[in-house]
Amino acid sequence: MPAPSLETLVSLCKRRGFVFPGSEIYGGLSNSWDYGPAGTALKNALRDWWWERFVTKRQDMVGIDAAILMNPRVWEASGHVANFNDAMVDCRACKARHRADHLIATVDPEQQVEGKTLEELTAIIEKNKIPCPRCGAKGQFTDARTFNLLFQTHLGAIESKEEQRSVYLRGEIAQAMFVNFKNVLNTTRMRLPFGIASVGKAFRNEITPGNFIFRTLEFDLMEFEYFIREPAWQDMFDFWLQEQQIWLGEIGFAPDRLRVREHTQEELSHYSKRTADIEYATPFGWKELFGLAYRTDFDLKNHMEQSGTDLQYTDPDTGEKLIPHAIEPTFGLSRLMLMVLLEAFDEEQIEGENRTVLHLHPRIAPVQAAVLPLSKKEHLVAKAQEIYKQLQDTTGLRLDFDVTGSIGKRYRRQDEIGTPQCVTVDFGTLGEDDAQGVQDTVTIRDRDTLTQERVSVQELAQRCQRHSPQSQS
Ligand code: GAP
Repeated sequence: MPAPSLETLVSLCKRRGFVFPGSEIYGGLSNSWDYGPAGTALKNALRDWWWERFVTKRQDMVGIDAAILMNPRVWEASGHVANFNDAMVDCRACKARHRADHLIATVDPEQQVEGKTLEELTAIIEKNKIPCPRCGAKGQFTDARTFNLLFQTHLGAIESKEEQRSVYLRGEIAQAMFVNFKNVLNTTRMRLPFGIASVGKAFRNEITPGNFIFRTLEFDLMEFEYFIREPAWQDMFDFWLQEQQIWLGEIGFAPDRLRVREHTQEELSHYSKRTADIEYATPFGWKELFGLAYRTDFDLKNHMEQSGTDLQYTDPDTGEKLIPHAIEPTFGLSRLMLMVLLEAFDEEQIEGENRTVLHLHPRIAPVQAAVLPLSKKEHLVAKAQEIYKQLQDTTGLRLDFDVTGSIGKRYRRQDEIGTPQCVTVDFGTLGEDDAQGVQDTVTIRDRDTLTQERVSVQELAQRCQRHSPQSQS
């Protein structure tokens, strides 16, 4: 099935507790979103799977968890203060601010804008008489100017801004891996090649955020710096590009909805010698999901020069000293969550009724098994609670217990959050109705095939666990 419209997905996310508009009761705050109970479970499950697959299960990887606020000199040395810019224009009529490249793409998506000067961007906008996407005014744009994406804030309990110290919220989580390179070397026995991984929030003053959680001002990132000797960079680049795609396949992405796009020379970030994006076919076009960059020795070298700290690696066998190069696979977690939901979404007709279902991988489903007593009869609910407790104690799965509404309605609710299996406890389970089943058996309903199978309570835990493997991290 083609991906749903964004409106359909946003509505499902709100209805089922994946994503809520931020600060909603105060009228919201543009482009800020809160993750609800289902969304948090899904995001955490993706994060834990990533950590297990790329960190815990690899001998050549270690993880850190660094501060969001860093010494501003980090961002000077990394080149972000000078280079982390987008070109923007303001509409004089309605005061809306737009990214110049996004504006140009509204009339000519094929137009090459990378590497164009501010004057050239201004000329393209004027020549095409591009209207303001917000108010429709033509010929009202200011000249293009650069706009730094780093998010500034102030340190210190002093009222006047002038006396406070300006710092930046981290624009990428990568810098902590470079800044802590020596600390990690000194406290572990890592040898080249090896990686340092991290997960956390990054912040960017995006000029035109939007498309739900696709581009926001704060977002979750998972990334690692894989340190190598320079000659290995092409092989390592290919290896990690493949690994990123393999993981997407494991999550359940169809290969024809993914593609790899190499950055042109003009498009490369200031730190990169080669970058490739893995893009996904969203309802709003092919868009970057993950990225992969060869950052050379740019970061370690600059931090070494600017901080005066020796960040070289010493080969333990030969004593050779060198500055390692870095390959950086980066995985936007918020974006991954959006694209997982788009990929999993399905609408179908079952016996004349519409069914909305998320075909999520059982490992990341917010609820992995729901226990549903067929009716609200007290002794049936008590038996179902007993079975729920048994599953909770023996499986470690994310469970739900739902007694509200007809069984059909409850199945639909679970389908909409992607619950792979529903366990129905009925009067057969109690030995009170032979037609429903043998005593101490329950029905397992499969989300995808809709088959219903009678299994004994004794083997239930094993069955559920086999169906929904747990993260071991
Ligand atoms: N350390 C490299 C780095 O941060 P990036 O391509 O600027 O590279 C990494 O960002 C990933 O973060 C992207 O591939 C994308 O998945 C995600 N991302 C970037 N900007 C974002 C935003 N404003 N909102 C949500 N996700 C974003």
